[in-house]
Amino acid sequence: MANTLGPNIAAVLPEKQGRLTISERPIPTPGPGELLVRNEAVAANPSDWKVQSLGVIVDKFPAVLGSDVAGIVVSVGPGVTRFKAGDHVMAFALGMVLGNIDGAALQTFTILNEAATSHLPKSLTFQQGATLPVAMATAAIALFADLELPMREKRDNEQGAILVWGGASAVGVGAIQIAHALGWTVYTTASPKHHAWLKKLGATDAWDYRDSEAAQHIGQAAKAAGLKIRGAIDTRSEDSSFDLVTAALVAANSTSGGRVATLLPWPADKPRPEGIETFSTNCFRFVKDRQDIGSWLFDSWLYKALEDGSIEPAPKVRVIEGGLKGAQSMLDTLKAGVSGEKLVINIGGQPDRSRD
Ligand SMILES: NC(=O)c1ccc[n+]([C@@H]2O[C@H](COP(=O)([O-])OP(=O)(O)OC[C@H]3O[C@@H](n4cnc5c(N)ncnc54)[C@H](OP(=O)(O)O)[C@@H]3O)[C@@H](O)[C@H]2O)c1
Repeated sequence: MANTLGPNIAAVLPEKQGRLTISERPIPTPGPGELLVRNEAVAANPSDWKVQSLGVIVDKFPAVLGSDVAGIVVSVGPGVTRFKAGDHVMAFALGMVLGNIDGAALQTFTILNEAATSHLPKSLTFQQGATLPVAMATAAIALFADLELPMREKRDNEQGAILVWGGASAVGVGAIQIAHALGWTVYTTASPKHHAWLKKLGATDAWDYRDSEAAQHIGQAAKAAGLKIRGAIDTRSEDSSFDLVTAALVAANSTSGGRVATLLPWPADKPRPEGIETFSTNCFRFVKDRQDIGSWLFDSWLYKALEDGSIEPAPKVRVIEGGLKGAQSMLDTLKAGVSGEKLVINIGGQPDRSRD
């Protein structure tokens, strides 16, 4: 296999809290329910730099990091029904967290789980495809599992708004787009330079999270619209964000029965606000107890919503040069902070897909 496919070059984390080094790895064979994919683009997530810098989650070394990929199917394992060799796909590569080095993204060939893979619409580049899977899966778990939004279009007799705190983050734009596409009113906070963009993606209104009056403004907007905030996603989940999201629910008279999904855990020493239920989002639930959400997203909705224009690829792609050799720079850049962008490296030779 290696002779015909070429080498599997990987950005390897040799040891806990080490730096990425380039080396060659064997090309794996897909097992039942798995696909072997030649990666064209890989995007970075905060979990990648956190695993590296903080030495968390991954405890087997050498390791390969990375979870967001887009590429071309090389072969499929037994039982795979939705994909065949040659298909262009985007996927949430599960290997980093499952401790399966063959299933991590930052290498030429990755083993993907069919349940975490979507076809890539023709209108998207591989880079755009790589920006979506982790953020969309996390947003879907937060919305449907934590906030208990119905996994279908809103009905006329259903009321309420969704608050996405930190809407310009990758998960934030995913949540805004899903909630809006299903018919919900969405309030968000972000830097003012992103407000017009987030409204275009579906936010009803946007405020600056640095504005000390933001919570009051959100409360006023909800009350003026006659809406309760039925759920909030705190994509920041750091520092004052827990209190600010709570204040917005208080200002909107929405504490009773209000649900808050936090992407990082609610601090142990911070009292839970009365009336509000808090949930620590776990994106991996789509392959565990909420496979229905994974199936909704990866089997059908994501592809269809991109094809029919209900959603668009976002945040904006920023390519870090150097291919896999640029992977360390990509993680360092993400750790330093991004604003409304998703960092991507090109791995294969076809970053802009030919339209066949
Ligand atoms: N629990 C899970 O399963 C799960 C899954 C995925 C991610 N996460 C975690 O969720 C967090 C977000 O991930 P991501 O990939 O979406 O992040 P990201 O795209 O890297 O987030 C960048 C955005 O954060 C916003 N931001 C910075 N400071 C802020 C503040 N004080 N208040 C509100 N927004 C602020 C910025 O907004 P502006 O540009 O508007 O300033 C920026 O656009 C990370 O901590 C990540 O580790 C958890």
